[in-house]
Amino acid sequence: MPRAFYVTTPIYYISGNPHIGHAYTTIAADVLVRAARANGPAFSLTGTDEHGQKVANAAAAAGMTPQAYVDSLAPRWRELAPAFDAQFDDFIRTTDARHIRACQAVFEKLVATGDVYQGTYEGWYCTNDETFWPESKLIDGRCPNPECRRPVEWLAEEDWFFRLSAYRDRLIAYFKENPEFCRPQSVYNEMMATLEGGLDDLSISRTSFDWGIPLPGGVMYVWFDALLNYISATGWLDDPARFETLWPASVQLIGKEIARFHTIIWPAMLWALGLEAPARVFAHGWILSDGQKMSKSLGNAFDPFALAQTYGADSIRYFLLREAPFGSDFSVSEEKLRVRHNADLGNDLGNLLRRSLAMLTKYRNGLVPPASESAIGERFGELGTTVYDHVMSLRFREALDATWELIAALNRDIDDKKPWELYKHERTDELDALLYELCEGLRWLAILVHPFMPAKATAIWHQLGLEGTPSVAWPENLQWGGLAANTQTNPGDALFPRIEAPAPA
Ligand code: MSP
Repeated sequence: MPRAFYVTTPIYYISGNPHIGHAYTTIAADVLVRAARANGPAFSLTGTDEHGQKVANAAAAAGMTPQAYVDSLAPRWRELAPAFDAQFDDFIRTTDARHIRACQAVFEKLVATGDVYQGTYEGWYCTNDETFWPESKLIDGRCPNPECRRPVEWLAEEDWFFRLSAYRDRLIAYFKENPEFCRPQSVYNEMMATLEGGLDDLSISRTSFDWGIPLPGGVMYVWFDALLNYISATGWLDDPARFETLWPASVQLIGKEIARFHTIIWPAMLWALGLEAPARVFAHGWILSDGQKMSKSLGNAFDPFALAQTYGADSIRYFLLREAPFGSDFSVSEEKLRVRHNADLGNDLGNLLRRSLAMLTKYRNGLVPPASESAIGERFGELGTTVYDHVMSLRFREALDATWELIAALNRDIDDKKPWELYKHERTDELDALLYELCEGLRWLAILVHPFMPAKATAIWHQLGLEGTPSVAWPENLQWGGLAANTQTNPGDALFPRIEAPAPA
């Protein structure tokens, strides 16, 4: 079997509801995997992180067993990707039997190799973050995470430890030899500084509660359990032939707050298992609300399902990836969403389609004229490669910027060449050339924006009279002139009907 382009999202904490920050990672993963899939096999994974004391406490508060509690929450998380038209090949829950079996097999293997050993652990523990903090990091005796700041408790237990310290030199060498492994550069620098500061072994078991994967004398530390989802879901234990086609992952997408787990602890775990580190971990920025990271616990979160309902999945996908460079923080507001929806999507792209097909209907009965060369056609030639490279390098905003330049150029060409005048003066060749350029340009645009806005791109495709979906292998199979003469176009509804601001209350 050929190797697949394998993309993952973090597995989201199951307690609480999804918010637009979770949707952001899920959407970015889907855009990447859709672009990759146009050129070959691809595979994407998402899921839920369901163990740990926080979940056990929440279940107890709800008067439920932890299993019944997580089962009641899982469906909401499963709905997140489909609400944004994101297609995942698998959804893993850390309570899945396949995952639990794989984690236990990992533990046994690492005990056998000596990478996991038994010792005593004492330290300050934050239950909310499921993290031990050194005394020097505490702020007024509380958890130093600015979103948490809850009291910490002193824990002393007989624990199992992972020999993380033994991998420090290899990690430093790996970072230096593979700068693309940890992106963007700001996160790379921060992780390098952490590595240079030294690494302690990691406690990987807990004895103070029992909602987790059973180990001799306790349960597995929730982060050790959670990271393993990326290999338990892809057959590391049960299906080695399948696993071979998927591991190492091509891109693991995360938010920057969990970079240490994914770029330091995770590769060391993989190496201890004799596996390769992922090709790339990309830590994106935060969606802010009122200047702070949007999060459920701060009560400043947007409900992604309500937003998708109001603006449409594709407008939100577009907005999130156009609004800021991938890797930077940015803030979201309904006002900003409306502006992008109405201006970039409605006026620029939607009107280009509407105007072009209306003129084609009026001047040529809706039939595409014969192919012709044009200056804009030449610019498009480079655009296919540029956009593809940007997407595959997670420069989503740059991909959209480049695409929108061409949308602007096509709109300008209509204004400059004034097809209504060409028609009036019977300058048929020029009129045909312009109409062809517009239709062929729109065919290209449908292909280029398809990973970002699959439904709207398909609508453009159908209005152009084309069948199926615009998932063409590009840039290779994307050449100017591909739209056949006499294709009968099929103008339809406005792509992005205007959304007005609600009247002030
Ligand atoms: N369960 C862990 C991850 C384990 S992965 C082996 C976790 N879960 S989480 O529910 O807190 O989700 C974290 C991820 O959701 C972030 O890393 C990021 O991808 C996404 N986001 C959550 N809030 C976000 C923002 N405000 N902004 C951007 N992304 C956000 O950590």
